[in-house]
Amino acid sequence: MKAIIINNYGGTEVIETSNDSQKPAVKAGQVLVEVHAASLNRIDSAIRAGYLHQMMPLSFPSVLGGDFAGIVAEVGEGVINVKTGDEVYGYAGAFLGGSGSLAEYTSASVDKVSKKPRSIDMAAAASLPLAGASAIQAIEEHIKLRKGQKILIHGGSGGIGSLAIQLAKLHEAYVAASVSTSNIKLAKQLGADEVIDYKTNDFTSIIKGYDAVLVGAAEELNNSYKVVKKGGILVSMVGNVDENLAKEYGITAITQMTQTSTSQLKRLSELVESGKLKPLIDKTFTLNNAREAFEYFEQKHPRGKVVIKIK
Ligand SMILES: NC(=O)c1ccc[n+]([C@@H]2O[C@H](COP(=O)([O-])OP(=O)(O)OC[C@H]3O[C@@H](n4cnc5c(N)ncnc54)[C@H](OP(=O)(O)O)[C@@H]3O)[C@@H](O)[C@H]2O)c1
Repeated sequence: MKAIIINNYGGTEVIETSNDSQKPAVKAGQVLVEVHAASLNRIDSAIRAGYLHQMMPLSFPSVLGGDFAGIVAEVGEGVINVKTGDEVYGYAGAFLGGSGSLAEYTSASVDKVSKKPRSIDMAAAASLPLAGASAIQAIEEHIKLRKGQKILIHGGSGGIGSLAIQLAKLHEAYVAASVSTSNIKLAKQLGADEVIDYKTNDFTSIIKGYDAVLVGAAEELNNSYKVVKKGGILVSMVGNVDENLAKEYGITAITQMTQTSTSQLKRLSELVESGKLKPLIDKTFTLNNAREAFEYFEQKHPRGKVVIKIK
């Protein structure tokens, strides 16, 4: 099968297209999916660059990619909630036991798979798993955001931020979002009540006493504790929180590791099918242009997600 592989760690120059990769074997508890579309996440670039090699050494050749949407081609032993022919989406990154989604077929643990939202196409569905599950885990599971509460979302134009703004508004919160200058209009369109241009403003002089902060931009983590009110909560997508700072400000601080679980994906499908949550796709590429897609993703500051159509 065709697959986007690497044979060693590095920049985009190590990305190769293989036409004779082996179709992944399906283990117990896994599904084999014919991949119709995939999308890129920061972790895909980090894995390729070798930043995670101590935590998760790859065996080469290794297929890149995690997010996917496609059709179940085979189910492994013990899989009962998904069957051959189902249209599904989920996460198949090597980091979480999958075989990599930038390929004609991928194997994924069934607990990271769910039926895809019926109302959107494969490309839009593939844009959702990790970013959407991240937004749901942060806003509904950790923060438990309620009507009238105030939340600051750093990185409002990104994959996670663009969904998190919409989700926070669904919970009838007051939403401030930080974005770069060219994305102010977008953040307002997504529903933000207040938009901070991080290029020209210091958010700590504008935001005070908020119930929650979702940190989707690493540069803003250290200054975010002080804008949360006592008893409030900070969720970091971008690295370990500082427990001492959290204690000093009297807040809860959580380092999130997104699960991309079936239940999170089901919740995402429900929100998308009811028209309450809309995926944001910046640009779509084909599998043959995967290296170009990574270059675009890493250099061009996309709004929302970069998608790769495979079928
Ligand atoms: N912990 C986990 O399980 C997990 C899961 C998924 C993602 N992540 C991490 O979460 C972060 C966000 O993910 P993502 O998929 O949303 O990434 P993304 O699509 O690249 O979005 C990040 C956004 O942040 C904006 N940004 C950059 N610097 C900023 C700043 N100083 N203040 C405010 N916004 C800023 C960028 O916009 P401009 O380019 O216009 O500046 C971009 O839109 C990444 O670091 C990713 O690695 C963690």
